[in-house]
Amino acid sequence: MTTTSGEFVLADAAAYAQAVTDASLAAGAYYTGGTSALDDDAYDRLVRAVAAYEADHPDEVLPHSPTGKVGGGAVEGDVPHTVPMLSLDNVFDGEQFTTWTASVARRIGHEVTRWNVQPKLDGLAIAARYHEGRLTQLITRGDGTAGEDVSHAIGTIEGLPDRLTEPHTVEVRGEVLMTIGQFEHANEVRTEHGGAPFANPRNAAAGTLRAKERAYTVPMTFFAYGLLPLPGTSAEHAEALRSLAHGELMDRAATLGVNTPATTDVSGLTVDTVEEVLARVEHIAGLRAELPFGIDGIVVKADLAADQEAAGSGTRAPRWAIAFKLPAVEKITRLLDVEWNVGRTGIIAPRAVLEPVDIDGSTVTYATLHNPADITRRDLRLGDHVMVYKAGDIIPRIEAPVAHLRTGDEQPIAFPDMCPQCGSGIDTSEQRWRCERGRNCHLVASLSYAAGRDQLDIEGLGATRVVQLVEAGLVADLADLFALTRDGLLALDRMGETSTDNLLAAIEAAKAQPLSRVLCALGVRGTGRSMSRRIARHFATMDHIRAADAEAMQRVEGIGAEKAPVIVSELAELAPLIDRLAAAGVNMTEPGATPPAPEAETDGAGEPAAAAGPLDGMTVVVTGAMTGPLEKLSRNQMNELIERAGGKSSSSVSKRTSLVVAGEGAGSKRAKAEDLGIRLATPDEFAELVADLLE
Ligand code: IVH
Repeated sequence: MTTTSGEFVLADAAAYAQAVTDASLAAGAYYTGGTSALDDDAYDRLVRAVAAYEADHPDEVLPHSPTGKVGGGAVEGDVPHTVPMLSLDNVFDGEQFTTWTASVARRIGHEVTRWNVQPKLDGLAIAARYHEGRLTQLITRGDGTAGEDVSHAIGTIEGLPDRLTEPHTVEVRGEVLMTIGQFEHANEVRTEHGGAPFANPRNAAAGTLRAKERAYTVPMTFFAYGLLPLPGTSAEHAEALRSLAHGELMDRAATLGVNTPATTDVSGLTVDTVEEVLARVEHIAGLRAELPFGIDGIVVKADLAADQEAAGSGTRAPRWAIAFKLPAVEKITRLLDVEWNVGRTGIIAPRAVLEPVDIDGSTVTYATLHNPADITRRDLRLGDHVMVYKAGDIIPRIEAPVAHLRTGDEQPIAFPDMCPQCGSGIDTSEQRWRCERGRNCHLVASLSYAAGRDQLDIEGLGATRVVQLVEAGLVADLADLFALTRDGLLALDRMGETSTDNLLAAIEAAKAQPLSRVLCALGVRGTGRSMSRRIARHFATMDHIRAADAEAMQRVEGIGAEKAPVIVSELAELAPLIDRLAAAGVNMTEPGATPPAPEAETDGAGEPAAAAGPLDGMTVVVTGAMTGPLEKLSRNQMNELIERAGGKSSSSVSKRTSLVVAGEGAGSKRAKAEDLGIRLATPDEFAELVADLLE
């Protein structure tokens, strides 16, 4: 039963027992990477109802109740923690937070001296043990007193170095998660190995951390939020660590080479007043959608060790810290329909149509469904209640059907038996179905993409014009564009002399585009703009690209063992088209790049030693509006320019960034660069730096 405020009320002992069972199952799924039948909000409400019932009926408390247990009592392990790994209590708004701060003040006899505010990272808690500076053991939180040994994951977690910068015997505690990029990569690799995609980054990290014998490894990321001495260290060192304030501990962790939120846009911040805490909470919450990793709240801690000690800890959570929870990014809604769309490479992808649902401030109506095998594996049916996940700029995804909400009226999902775009047969030999006509199926989409601003940049060739050319039978593939004649075009409706001549001139100009853009225009599966640039810069000519086998292809940064063969076979499939483009005079070289030496004399990173450019070895981030000589450049063109000058382009500022080009309107990235002391340049200063490369 629910009240008007959405809270559950448990009417009797039977309802209580059922609620305890449901909550335990959901907690088990959450901590082990399985699928839960409850979203986070519903889980929190259920546990609150259980707690309320227990408060009224203290003699009826069931031993397997999730209240009062770390991890809802879901998991156990056999490696004891030296100090319990606690959980956190939650507050949901400023008022609850202020009430909580007052209770801490009462307990310690004065206002908390100062606070530390940091993101609550949505991953899994882990303890990393370092002996004399060497990483020796990784342990999950487990039930808080003992956890599972997951040392097999050492070496796959970015931000947890094998060696500290100093030979200390310490335990670093923190969260292991997958960034959105790592999550998408993990799902790509996993589906290529025939596995089911992970539903969300948290599940992906949980599953990956526990998996012992997988044929592949996928990277994860660690962020520290605690540092403590281990037995074996000197008493002085132990005492020194114990006396540090939380903010100082985080600085120590960073100095030791461990990753902390200081490398992100939402670094930990020490402040003096409750008002400042609330302002920082707002600030972090406001950045949530832009972060490259998931957060499910903000953690506020008393900063001073003395305040923490005075407040003490309960069995489940410390009394000196609290989690300010943010709205859940998972919600349950209904699956109304499945649409089958053909992409520009001929892939036929299912897409779920949902009953609109608000998730963290945005309305979600569609969700990705990967491939038909995935629908079958998860036994999804039309009319099902489904758990939907959406965070940041991730495409919403369906996690799982909520089987216990089935009514029996759900209907099977029909799979297409011919291509929904052109009616041809479907190649179902791979997990992702594809029209037998491949990229020629959805010719309009693939040609419009090829003609787009960041590819061949053919002005006057928008989607409407492409439809006209295809319908008139003038173009059946990309190479046909370069064979268009003046008479052929003039015979079309709405094509006067001027537009015909302009279009022909634009097509002629497109022949001179750099190889990276030609490659991108071809629509090779598994490559987008930045990957096409990397391939083109690495190989320098189309001939070298085509001569590369999967092994050679893997020398390009970002291409792994899974992607390389796909790219190689795509290029083989495209060979006749590439030959015709070359014969039509389309440029097949990358300006300024040199081909790899025959037996790849590399500089260690797999890149041929390149000619020195003004940005050699630098990582550059562009933010805000470009002005002066750079005014007309799109972000893609700015990135091309950076790479031509020998640099690497990146979209986020971290301590590895060498230069931030900040134009007008630059916001958080500029602020972050200032915080981290990273060199800043105005668009004009940057233009001067790369003047030789600007035409
Ligand atoms: S402090 C004694 N700080 O949230 C204090 N926890 O819901 C214990 N978490 O078990 C934790 N980000 O796995 C702390 N900045 C952060 C955190 C954080 C994520 C996780 C952690 C904890 C859980 C409690």
